[in-house]
Amino acid sequence: MKGKILVTGGAGYIGSHTVVELQNAGYEVIIIDNLSNSTTDSIDGIERITGKRPVFIKLDCNDLEGLRNLFTEHSGIDGIIHFAASKAVGESVQKPLLYYRNNLNSLINLLDLMPQFKVRNIVFSSSCTVYGEPDNNPIDESAPVKPAESPYGNTKQINEEIIKDTITSGAPVKSIILRYFNPIGAHKSAEIGELPNGVPQNLVPYITQTAIGVREQLSVFGDDYNTPDGSCIRDFINVVDLAKAHVIAIDRMLGNKSEDKVEIFNLGTGNGVSVLQLIHVFEKVSGKKLNYKIVGRRTGDIEKIWANPKKANEVLGWKAVESIDETMLSAWNWQLKLREKGIM
Ligand code: NAD
Ligand code: WQD
Repeated sequence: MKGKILVTGGAGYIGSHTVVELQNAGYEVIIIDNLSNSTTDSIDGIERITGKRPVFIKLDCNDLEGLRNLFTEHSGIDGIIHFAASKAVGESVQKPLLYYRNNLNSLINLLDLMPQFKVRNIVFSSSCTVYGEPDNNPIDESAPVKPAESPYGNTKQINEEIIKDTITSGAPVKSIILRYFNPIGAHKSAEIGELPNGVPQNLVPYITQTAIGVREQLSVFGDDYNTPDGSCIRDFINVVDLAKAHVIAIDRMLGNKSEDKVEIFNLGTGNGVSVLQLIHVFEKVSGKKLNYKIVGRRTGDIEKIWANPKKANEVLGWKAVESIDETMLSAWNWQLKLREKGIM
């Protein structure tokens, strides 16, 4: 056993894939999740993939006393990976207080308790959304943080500041902040994957749900951008590649390899792929013709953004390795599995 890791939001999309990689690497995992955007099916999936069921406790990170009891009962936690958050950009515009309360209080509670229970290390899930519309691509970590486009995006910026201020104040804590670009795909086994509540807001679940007939047609939001084919460009990163970076971040902190008390890394492939290109990759690997139409732009969309992942490549020794074809195939196989199980 390499160490005991608390994974908040570990029943969710990125969290469940990360728990698989942590367990495969020999870590003992405790998951807490309030199941507001997930079910325990993902815990079953983790067990089927790894042969080991992680400890799962249904708990809300806003529940300070509940967290205190957790740290008391499960002593010796070496590090936390904090995924738990509300993440729907549109909903955050409608319900800003829900987002500020959930996403800020959760982190504040953890940072408050960590020193009391001698938990020294926290990995935080941030996002490329902090860069807004980049002045230049690929974008590296030294680029300025731009005013947030949504309350959700603002919670990521504020949380990054909360971590820095807490550590600057002398709290005995180290952090690695990971700025994800666009995580997509699913575990190759199709035992775990992304399962959005209701109508998907993100591109890939909308594509796969359209292809399987749950949605009638995909709307492509704009083909008049200043890009080669007119559609927006993103850096789509395979979720298993992304998950592996968390294990490396934890290894780094537990091995006292961090060069600063707060380190920030972009997690992306370094390649920009357009919305239309991604659709065509999907059609190729699935053999399905996708019903889509071009509609007007979506308010608040970034035209083009992709990562310069050099710092993560060189400092962490991490690199995205899965091809976009394999990644889209994994998303499709996950959708087929959901259909087979009668879930969607
Ligand atoms: P997800 O919704 O699948 O997972 C988040 C999990 O946290 C869910 O299982 C949810 O039930 C749980 N949760 C929410 N609030 C909680 C609370 N107060 N207490 C306990 N559990 C709570 O989302 P995801 O895509 O896996 O995202 C994980 C993290 O990565 C989030 O912080 C998200 O903001 C961040 N992120 C996601 C993306 C993306 O595109 N998916 C991109 C950048 C950053
Ligand atoms: C990708 C592209 C859409 C749906 C969001 C958050 C960001 C981060 C990742 C967490 C865009 C187009 C989409 C559809 C479409 N999350 N699209 N039709 O907007 O890059 O980022 O998720 O931190 O904060 O804002 O991802 O998947 O929503 O969109 O044409 O039905 O697909 O316009 O160009 P996005 P997305």
